[in-house]
Amino acid sequence: GLPDEVEIYEVGPRDGLQNESTVLTVETKLAMIESLVDAGIRRIEITSFVNPRWIPALADHMEVATRLRRREGVRYSALVPNMRGLDSASRAGMDEVAIFMAASESHNRKNINKSTMKAVETYEEVVREALDRGMRVRGYVSCVYGCPYEGEVPYENVEWVSKALLDLGVYELSLGDTIGVGTPRQVASILKGLLDAGMTREQLAVHFHDTRGTALANVTVALQLGIKTIDSSVGGLGGCPYAPGASGNVATEDVVFLLDGMGVNSGVDLGKLPSISTEVGVKLGHELPSKYLKAHVAA
Ligand code: HMG
Ligand code: MG
Repeated sequence: GLPDEVEIYEVGPRDGLQNESTVLTVETKLAMIESLVDAGIRRIEITSFVNPRWIPALADHMEVATRLRRREGVRYSALVPNMRGLDSASRAGMDEVAIFMAASESHNRKNINKSTMKAVETYEEVVREALDRGMRVRGYVSCVYGCPYEGEVPYENVEWVSKALLDLGVYELSLGDTIGVGTPRQVASILKGLLDAGMTREQLAVHFHDTRGTALANVTVALQLGIKTIDSSVGGLGGCPYAPGASGNVATEDVVFLLDGMGVNSGVDLGKLPSISTEVGVKLGHELPSKYLKAHVAA
């Protein structure tokens, strides 16, 4: 059966904006975050404390994080790639961060300029320090279903990186279909593999990019396997500049429409999402890909 309740982990302000050529103002980003929280989002990734030369759209990370009004019961997170990022996040008042690396060697070299081994070594210190400071740490595994540089990624690599991150002390793994090549049978097989390897349903989250239109089918399979944390991005924004061909994340409103229809509670008010996406689309100067949004606008 399906879970009665799931949590949406909103990545719009981070994954959603990182690949955009138009840089939104800090005020617009803060308004976007606030309105998502108003719509019922309780977990949200607000920015990345990465090298601004690598991700110019999020160069204002310090200002966004320090100016944000934190609300009771909402968990705000941000990506950090190294100690420098963790230090900035901590100074900006973050109490949760997310580390990220790929299950493929080439993507690690292109995205974080490190080998897989060096990434684990770097994160060992980052997670230890974060936990010492009382912060929570989430871990992303990218290229779980395929790599833009290597093609197929052996399941063994996915399991190895997942275990390595859990061993470091992350409370949850988000399994990324970075370039949107995963299909339902593969999702089921990888999730079952990780559960068989001893990981719990509570430790696993899913993160689908909808490049080839399989994201909602993949979400459904994850739900059927009892996964209760789903990453999504308002309007279907998103993509990784260091993963050629990657397009947007599965849209938050599309996921919530699916969940509402299946009787799974997410606490997110579907009715409040289209105006947020529309507003962000206007500011970015282009239409956003969400299917629910298009239907809503047409109606
Ligand atoms: P590097 O060049 O190897 O870093 O980059 P370095 O340690 O040699 O430092 C070089 C310069 O960067 C120095 O500045 C550092 O201070 C600066 P300089 O002395 O030359 O002026 N620097 C920093 N500045 C600000 N904040 C920092 C920081 N660290 C170093 N934290 C690095 C290595 C990891 C920093 C770089 O490769 C980087 O920033 N990468 C980020 C790439 C990224 O954000 N990609 C997108 C997110 S991942 C994703 O989207 C996938 C996901 O959604 C899941 C999925 O879909 O699968 C999560
Ligand atoms: Mg992503």
